[in-house]
Amino acid sequence: MRNDDIFNESKLYMPGGVNSPVRAFKDVAMNPPVIKKGSGSHIYDEDGNEYIDFVCSWGPMILGHCDPDVVEAIKSTSEKAISFGATTEPELELAKYICSTVDNVEMLRMVNSGTEATMSAVRLARGYTGRNKIIKFAGCYHGHFDDFLVEAGSGVMTEGIPGSAGVPDDSIKNTLVAQYNDISSVESIFEKHGSDIAAVIVEPVAGNMGVIPGDEDFLKGLRRLCDENGSLLIFDEVMSGFRVAYKGAQSIYKIKPDLTTMAKIIGGGLPCGAYGGRKDIMEKLSPLGPVYQAGTMSGNPIVVAAGLATLKKLHDYPQYYVQIEKLGQKLVDGIRKIAQKKNLPVVMNRCGAMFALFFTEASEVKNYSDAKKCRQDIFAKYFEHMISRGIYIAPSQFEAVFLSVKHTEQDIDRFLEAFDSFEI
Ligand SMILES: Cc1ncc(COP(=O)(O)O)c(C=O)c1O
Repeated sequence: MRNDDIFNESKLYMPGGVNSPVRAFKDVAMNPPVIKKGSGSHIYDEDGNEYIDFVCSWGPMILGHCDPDVVEAIKSTSEKAISFGATTEPELELAKYICSTVDNVEMLRMVNSGTEATMSAVRLARGYTGRNKIIKFAGCYHGHFDDFLVEAGSGVMTEGIPGSAGVPDDSIKNTLVAQYNDISSVESIFEKHGSDIAAVIVEPVAGNMGVIPGDEDFLKGLRRLCDENGSLLIFDEVMSGFRVAYKGAQSIYKIKPDLTTMAKIIGGGLPCGAYGGRKDIMEKLSPLGPVYQAGTMSGNPIVVAAGLATLKKLHDYPQYYVQIEKLGQKLVDGIRKIAQKKNLPVVMNRCGAMFALFFTEASEVKNYSDAKKCRQDIFAKYFEHMISRGIYIAPSQFEAVFLSVKHTEQDIDRFLEAFDSFEI
């Protein structure tokens, strides 16, 4: 079957034809290509078109598609262990690996998605502190848990909606929203609610309103306010973990969160998630403590094997991060140069292997309200232009562009050539 036939028939059986809204390409008013296979930095659709993939499954595929070591780990594990719902040695290996790599994770619990990781981390923070309120930031996305669907980024922002129907007011009455990179907005909330705040949850490098790195002073300010008020600081590193740097964003900023949430890269492309942090907090989890959280598939052997193969390879080839940094800079410099030459209103933000191109007259994009002012009309044209030239990017300006270790100089040149022929 061809792309459009598959997509149209999918609409009969899955809402919008998809299993996650942004895949439907609704905001760029076109049908999505139906992806058949991937290899390295390239993917191929059912019509036989080839694309250079700058979505990388929304982050996880940092080793590119079907990396032979990851494939081998999945194959060999699946011959002997698919699921037991019991303790396995590879789980221990992955847990040890992450705890010895990510500086502020002494103990962790594996789950099956980023949403589960953030949702469970917040429950744990509430159980640990005995408080209910949380602070999140406008434009940050922490998954689709009810309590987070207030001024959320990612698909919620793309659809231009404040939150989601079906979320009871009671679920969000404890969610207080502050402005990203604006510590005074957090101070005002703490002044009013300080003793009720269980946690502040933040993407240290925001990747769901485009890419907006947190200012160092802002993130340090969050640490200080949490310390002063007895609240926990949760770094949501679902996207930034093992991506902006091997040891995550917290290693760049040298700030110690109490809890860290992870997913994407740690599962090597399979469904995964984990949250971890200070041992005294993690020990409040059942069966040791009173905070309940469980999962039939958590720590699944095949997922753990794919994750371990990915993390070990990233560890064994530290030059990968150097290479990605170089290519990322080449891409950003190239885009800026072309935009200047053609007088295109562009702001570029980058942190390691994730970056964003905003179409805006403004000189910088530092928060949700800056991001919301970006020109959707230009983005839609740009998107159509790029995808028709084999450059597969997310169909929204509020999603990140991702690089993998398999991207080459030629891939970057092809991106720049395509951009060079773009006219508003
Ligand atoms: C920072 C962040 N947190 C949480 C999530 C939710 O993860 P998942 O889609 O695996 O539920 C995402 C998803 O993109 C994310 O980017």
